[in-house]
Amino acid sequence: MRILIYDNYQSLSKWVAHYIARKINLAKPTPEKPYVLGLPTGSSPIGTYRELVALYNEGKVSFQNVVTFNMDEYVDISESHPQSYHYFMWQHLFSHVDIPKENVNILNGNAKDLDEECRLYEDKIKEHGGIDFFLGGIGADGHIAFNEPGSSLSSRTRIKTLTYDTRLANARFFDNEVNKVPRTALTVGVGTVMDAREVLIIVSGFNKARALRSAVEDGVNHMWTVSMLQLHPHGIIACDEEATLELKVGTVKYFKEIEEQALANLPVL
Ligand code: GLP
Repeated sequence: MRILIYDNYQSLSKWVAHYIARKINLAKPTPEKPYVLGLPTGSSPIGTYRELVALYNEGKVSFQNVVTFNMDEYVDISESHPQSYHYFMWQHLFSHVDIPKENVNILNGNAKDLDEECRLYEDKIKEHGGIDFFLGGIGADGHIAFNEPGSSLSSRTRIKTLTYDTRLANARFFDNEVNKVPRTALTVGVGTVMDAREVLIIVSGFNKARALRSAVEDGVNHMWTVSMLQLHPHGIIACDEEATLELKVGTVKYFKEIEEQALANLPVL
């Protein structure tokens, strides 16, 4: 696992966006062989999306031959609701770049048969040859997508009941009223994320510091689902200094030394 530590959220977001753009460009995607991205919502990726839009506007990356699969969506919330993940993705990324609408895949939390919706989503990912690159964030309890503590580490796309903690954390988007936050969501599984050829998790801010410590310094544990990244052959954590505050000094020093070169040189597009 690579751990990249940036001074702050801005520099971290910039690096992640450049990294993704570079991956897309190196793949030279075509309509027949598109680049397949897994994408998250939440505050963690907003800076990355902003930078990706800037790179697109500068002509440095195109999403014409990119297919996306989002991680999750609330159940029973209309797509036009400002807190739906559909709305979020168009607001922060898709409306600002050249991705064809038909290349965007987001779970439908209003489907009549939610189990079937999840099965079809997994099938569609397979039809595309799997996900090349999964970007993610984490909750303060170390969950990825909506794979709450206690989720199976081999789980696939399915319905999950959200923990009170997660609903409380997300109440800030629902007039600070926890009862307005949906109780269930559709989410890709930990196994779905880990099947991607590369996984990059953004960890920003002090409230994620305990989760980062568990992910990096403790063992693989279903109570901190992000810890499964330890078993991925190409797992990257991109974090800021604040998120490292619970790591051992020696751990931080070790990973900083390894990445000195990468920190000094932003990837050239
Ligand atoms: C939700 C999302 C996750 C996200 C997490 C943290 O639970 N399902 O994908 O990582 O929130 O969000 P934030 O980045 O806003 O802290």
